[in-house]
Amino acid sequence: MKNIAVLTSGGDAPGMNACLRAIVRKALFEGYKVYGVRNGYRGLVEGDYTLMNRKSVSEKLNRGGTFLGSARLPEFKEVEVREKAIEQMKKRDIDTLIAIGGDGTYQGAAALAKMGIDVIALPGTIDNDITTTDYTIGFDTALNTIVENIDKLRDTSSSHSRCTIVEVMGRRCPDLAVHSGLATGAEYIITHESGFNADDLVSSLNVAQKNNKRHALVVLTENVTDAFALARTIEDQVGIEARATILGHIQRGGTPTAADRVLASRMGHYAVDLLSQGIVNQSVNIKRNKLVGTDIFETIEINKTAASCEEMHRVSDELK
Ligand code: F6P
Repeated sequence: MKNIAVLTSGGDAPGMNACLRAIVRKALFEGYKVYGVRNGYRGLVEGDYTLMNRKSVSEKLNRGGTFLGSARLPEFKEVEVREKAIEQMKKRDIDTLIAIGGDGTYQGAAALAKMGIDVIALPGTIDNDITTTDYTIGFDTALNTIVENIDKLRDTSSSHSRCTIVEVMGRRCPDLAVHSGLATGAEYIITHESGFNADDLVSSLNVAQKNNKRHALVVLTENVTDAFALARTIEDQVGIEARATILGHIQRGGTPTAADRVLASRMGHYAVDLLSQGIVNQSVNIKRNKLVGTDIFETIEINKTAASCEEMHRVSDELK
């Protein structure tokens, strides 16, 4: 019987629980012994493991967050810390780790693979910033949360003929901003790729004014520019009232959408399928609705291209 460990790491994402459920149930079906690791790589190092059975993942499919807990552990970059994790795994005869998370989680998994642990990584992050997959688990739910909230902001913005600036998460990835901007008819979308040009923004908002729009919407990826300063610039240069809202961690919570539950279940099942075929050191991806594995080392080397977003920026501009 093979012993495997599973963990969730980094920022949590809706659908992580559905993914854990799929991994645990499929792994038990294949005859594996499964350990759930609490609080990501921290639990892996500290020996916070719990043996899982079918019941451990009951009533989890529809729940947001991750019932195993998650954490960020920058120290996992240090080889001595990873050695401690491997020691804990060896104590339990575990030689395989399934890790669900974003970029940092993938880096940790790849580093363990280099030290002889078999790994499978699954993309669980609202940011959609894993290069090899079309979609990550949690992206769809976060996107719907953003759209729902922007729709609410639009009501009050229209009543007061204001400009609303909404800052969304995504780290450096444009997808949450571009998708939500397109879905809500934003006047202007600012991402790390597109950059921010004040003159261009002012002229877009002036056009909206000329077209007698009752409100204006600017969607902004976090860490590009200060949303509140931007509101003041708009008030000064366009002459309309502006208010900034930072959506923050509300984007990470909530019950996963059906799309995320399906994606998480398929990916979790596929991860164990790969394992049972002896295919390891992979990341799990969805490409054109097909599940595919890619080499974990290659996955972490590829930079996300902005190509898909360029097309959406153009659609958004031409539909204003
Ligand atoms: O990676 C997910 C994410 O929500 C990013 O969008 C955001 O930049 C970051 O995590 C926030 O991290 P924390 O919850 O540690 O503040």
